[in-house]
Parts: sequence; C-alpha cells; structure tokens
Amino acid sequence: MYLCELCVYVVKTTPVSFQKIRFLFDSSRFSYPIITNFRYDQTGKVLTRFILNDTTIATDLPPGMVVLDFIRYHRQLMGTKIGCREGDCGACTVLVGTLKDGEVSYQSMTSCLLPLGNLQGKHVVTIEGINNENLNPVQQAMADEGATQCGFCTPGFVISLAGFCLEDKEPSVSNAIAAVDGNICRCTGYKSIERAAAHITRLLENRKEEPPLRFAVREKILPAWFERIKNRLQDLLNGEERTSGSETKKVMGGGTDLYVQQHEEMQEASLRFFFDHPALNGIEREGNRCIVGPSATVTDLRQSPIINESFPAFHRYAKLISSTPIRNMATIAGNFINASPIGDFTIFFLALDAQLELSGNDEKEKRRIALRKLYKGYKDLDKDPQEYISRIYFELPSKTTLFNFEKVSKRTHLDIATVNSAIWLDLEDGIIQKAGLSAGGVGPIPLFLEKTSAFLKGKSISEEIVEETIAIARSEISPISDVRGSKEYKSLLLGQLIKAHFITLFPKLEIQKLINAL
Ligand code: FES
Ligand code: FES
Repeated sequence: MYLCELCVYVVKTTPVSFQKIRFLFDSSRFSYPIITNFRYDQTGKVLTRFILNDTTIATDLPPGMVVLDFIRYHRQLMGTKIGCREGDCGACTVLVGTLKDGEVSYQSMTSCLLPLGNLQGKHVVTIEGINNENLNPVQQAMADEGATQCGFCTPGFVISLAGFCLEDKEPSVSNAIAAVDGNICRCTGYKSIERAAAHITRLLENRKEEPPLRFAVREKILPAWFERIKNRLQDLLNGEERTSGSETKKVMGGGTDLYVQQHEEMQEASLRFFFDHPALNGIEREGNRCIVGPSATVTDLRQSPIINESFPAFHRYAKLISSTPIRNMATIAGNFINASPIGDFTIFFLALDAQLELSGNDEKEKRRIALRKLYKGYKDLDKDPQEYISRIYFELPSKTTLFNFEKVSKRTHLDIATVNSAIWLDLEDGIIQKAGLSAGGVGPIPLFLEKTSAFLKGKSISEEIVEETIAIARSEISPISDVRGSKEYKSLLLGQLIKAHFITLFPKLEIQKLINAL
C-alpha cells in the first residue's frame, strides 16, 4: 500500500502531543543587459550562492531545481512539507530575505515553485531556521490555541506568521490573518489559527518604534544570528558577478506558472533568471506614463505609491489574486507571457492599453508592441523565442479617468477566474473620450474588446448604453464550456461584470433597471 507523506505522518504521530509539535519544528534604471547572475566554478558549472538558515551555500546543482527539493533531499531539512506542489496549500512555505536599501526584507514564498536560481544572493529561512531552544512565541501560540492537529500544515503557518512579525506593517489581526492567506489547513479549522494570530498580534503591539527584526530577536521569535545576516548577504553580493547569458536559455521570472505546467522540464532546463534583477525591476513615473519593470511582482505593484495613487482600489483588486506568497513571486511579464486567457494582470493591463518593449539578444534589437497585439491564438505569441519583455508602460490615469476591475471565481481567494474584466474610461463633460474594455475566460486569448471599446467612445453613459455595451461585448467573445462553467454561463457572467463596472463607476445609474436588463 502506498502512503503519502501526510498519511505516514499521521500514522506515526497520533495522538497530538507537545512532543509532536516540537518534532514538527525540528524536522532603475532600465538598461537591459542580457542577464544571468551566476558565478561559475573552475569547471564552468553554475554556482548558486545564498544563505540557508545559518549556513552559506554554494551549490552547482541545477539552478532550475526547486528549493523544496533542495532543502528536503539535499539538506535533509524535513520540516518543510510537500503538499500540492502547485503553490496552493502553503505546506512548503519558506521566507526569502533580500538585501534592500541596507536592510534585509523578508517575504513568504512557496518553495515548490521557487527555483534555486532565484535565491542568488538571498537568505532562505525554513522552519528549522526559526527554532530557538524552546518553542518560539509563534509556535507557542499555535500550541496554546490548539491550532494544530495532524500538523502537516503547521510549519507553513508558523513560517508565514514569522514573516508577518518581520513586516513593517501595523500589527492588526486582519494583517496577521492576511499573512496566512496562502496556507491551507485540512483538519484543525481556522478559528484556532485565527486565535493564535491574534495572540501574536498582541505581542507585536509592544514593538512600538523598534525595528521588526530587532524586536523579533529580542522576543526570541527568531534566533540571534538573524542580526548578522545583513552583513553576510552584503559579503555574498560583493563577490557577485553578472555575466552574459546564452541566447538559447529560457527566461525564468517568478516560476509560479512554469513550475506548475512544466515541473520536470524546468529542473534541468537552461535558464536565464530575471527575477528581482535590478535592471528589470522598478515602477516609475516618466511624464504622464508609468514604466513597469518586467520582473516587478504583484507585491511590488501593491507597494508602489504610483500604482496606489493611480488606482485607489488596487489593494482590493490584488486581494482577489492568488495568495501572499504567490503575489511575492509572480512577475507581471510572466503573467503576460504565460498567455493564460484568464491571467488577472493581463486583463488589468489590457484595459490600460499597455505597451511592451521587447528586447532580443542584441541590446540594440528592440521593438514595441501593444499588449493586445501580443496574442495571436491560444498560447501563441507574436514574439520570437529569444525576445523578452524589457519594459511595460501605460498612460497614467488623469483626474477624468475611471477604472475598475472585476473577477468571479468559484472561491473568492486563492482561485483562478471563471471570467474577469477591466475597464478604463476617459471622460470629458460626461462624454467618453477614450475607452478600454478587456475580458478573460471568454475566448482562447485574454481579450481587448475592440468593438465594444470603440462603441463606447463618444457616448454618455445611461442604462440603455450599458445594455448595448453588453450586447456588443457578447458578440466579440467565444467562450467554451469547461470545469469553470458552461459557455452560456460565462457569456452571462461577462454581462454581469460589465454591469458591475458601470454600477461602480456611475453610482447614479438605476441599478434595478440594469439588474432587470438582459
Ligand atoms: Fe503546496 Fe507548495 S506544496 S504550496
Ligand atoms: Fe492537519 Fe492543518 S493540522 S492539515
């Protein structure tokens, strides 16, 4: 009989005990060079260098290997669990520390989708790395509140909550709970975990102005050696070399889609790592345009003052998209190139009529293309294999711009869309001067609805115009029936999302009239 790791674990460790819990814890500049960031040993093999807990690592293992396999099978750190291997369950969560502006900033990431190559020059923390002599306050809160049963998910929750302790955010219960939005527990029930989160929040309220890392070390949430990581990373990065890569290499962004779709192939693939590369990062204003580096993540957008000022509801949209660890890893260009017909950020940027700069192996080879022209057919792009997105730009909204994003999925959080849509309208005296309407999940590609957008130009919004807009939008789509719904349902849903756009943006519209329509 085959027993999965969870079953073996449950068999070995029932009933729940303190020992079991203890055991669990024991076990801008936009210039574009061709990019890799590896060192090579004398034989020419790639060396990936980072700090794992308290140990400096230089490994020539394939940089496409996922960190989960490295820590479990090459470092025998079994506290990090294997669940879905698709970024959904959070059992494999680790913290990744990056040196930024002289400080180490930690983010939770799912190690099942994280290539070793993306760790270059970083600090990786597994559950073993946050153990102290006794249970640390996060572990203790989980134990005290009965927030663990079979225990399989527990290291992931503890790591995510430890990450929350390191964030410079208000220590509120809602923020603590948001920090575990990528962790799933199948047996305890979430109330006890929420109580543990509240417990930790109360502890953090004593932090006042103290830097989070210092407070976490003082309160023994983290071992004291964490305070030396900053200098150690600096030394690691000082010895870093950036070299030109081969044109045959595949580009790796955050890996959150590639590892779900091509897990085996990626392990040994020849890769160029763009994630968190300083030359491809950043979100900047240039006149009335916003320039987004292709390796900017969803979290980068969420934290960007330019994005928040331009899209005041951005936080609400971003919350609908995957989970904290995935948002910390997923890059915007990766979302475009993945070409999923329901890619949330593709739909968002399509409505903005975002433009792309594509670069080739020769730095001088650059061309521009509208995002909406990138998609020729299902997963078929107007892009040579050697080309990569070197920057993304769009016109910033003005005072007369209205924008909205809507998404419907089976679950509100941590789910992919059944249908999603975004709208951009520029108005003058109540008349639409410019419109962009996009829709996902209703065709083989993420769609910019050309005819509907053209129809809206010159119109003043009324209930009748909304009805006409929906009818034209429906004529532009070709949904298929699949696990997320029938084609009729998706067509109906797009109509509802368009109504939602207009009800949100034009509160004076008669809602009942719109509800009754179509
Ligand atoms: Fe489930 Fe990684 S194993 S998120
Ligand atoms: Fe069993 Fe969470 S305690 S899955």
